[in-house]
Amino acid sequence: MGKRTILTTSTRGILEDSFPYRLYQKAKRLGTWNPADIDFRQDQKDWSMMNTEQKEDILRLISQFQAGEEAVTLDLLPLMMAIAKEGRLEEEMFLTTFLFEEAKHTEFFRLVLNAIGEKGELSHFHTETYQKIFYEILPTAMERLVTDQSPEAIAEASVVYNMFVEGVLAETGYFSFYAALETAGIMPGLLEGIGQLKKDESRHIGYGTFLLQRLICEHPHLFDFVAAKMGELTPLAISLNQEGIAGREVSAFGGDPDDIMNFTLKQLSVRMEILARAKGKKIEEIYRYTDSELGVL
Ligand SMILES: [Fe+2]
Ligand SMILES: [Fe+2]
Repeated sequence: MGKRTILTTSTRGILEDSFPYRLYQKAKRLGTWNPADIDFRQDQKDWSMMNTEQKEDILRLISQFQAGEEAVTLDLLPLMMAIAKEGRLEEEMFLTTFLFEEAKHTEFFRLVLNAIGEKGELSHFHTETYQKIFYEILPTAMERLVTDQSPEAIAEASVVYNMFVEGVLAETGYFSFYAALETAGIMPGLLEGIGQLKKDESRHIGYGTFLLQRLICEHPHLFDFVAAKMGELTPLAISLNQEGIAGREVSAFGGDPDDIMNFTLKQLSVRMEILARAKGKKIEEIYRYTDSELGVL
């Protein structure tokens, strides 16, 4: 281990204007909502009025989110370690809020399941593609960082975790929840939590976008690597949607499943478009990004 460098008592101090530090400040203000404060009484009533197909659609979404939040809570730590090892103080300060928020998301979906009385085994909703992503690809990419903290390994982890799982799959999930429940005017507690989650996740995705842009700026060859990785993951996002749609032309709430698929495809291209902005930028410009430039709500 090299000699320790203390930043906060040096002339550098804390980079208070940097993107990750501003994100940390925002997380302290907005990331304080408490899942346990949400009132699910109306959700219980709404749940009892839903038909079997509607329950099945919502339960699939909830169980995929529940397991997904558990997975990202358990899998984040190696990234924090890699960032801490590089002495990137402002980024690690933000990441402390990130992990806390994932824990709250895990708590939130369990509270929803408890409220609607679903205490049984739900893993049959974890389809083949779902398992490939959450049981294999995500943990493998994150665990790699325990022994390999190369820029490629960090970029791979961030593509899988921030760009794909959060930026494409979770965003598609919120869209699906709103499409089903907001239109029907039901499950207000679930939707309230989803609204909070979406804001938290915009910071997580914003950080991942910053991190990847920083890495691309420092190691320009990584852009092609990141693009190839996203290309590899794209068919999985499509088949995960198809497994959920299961050949239907109308969803259980009357929506058009094509809307969900189109949303996923748009997310995939938006993520790469934003990352491409790193090309030709100076590192100082990346640290100066505003929240809105990186899609932070
Ligand atoms: Fe989350
Ligand atoms: Fe997240």
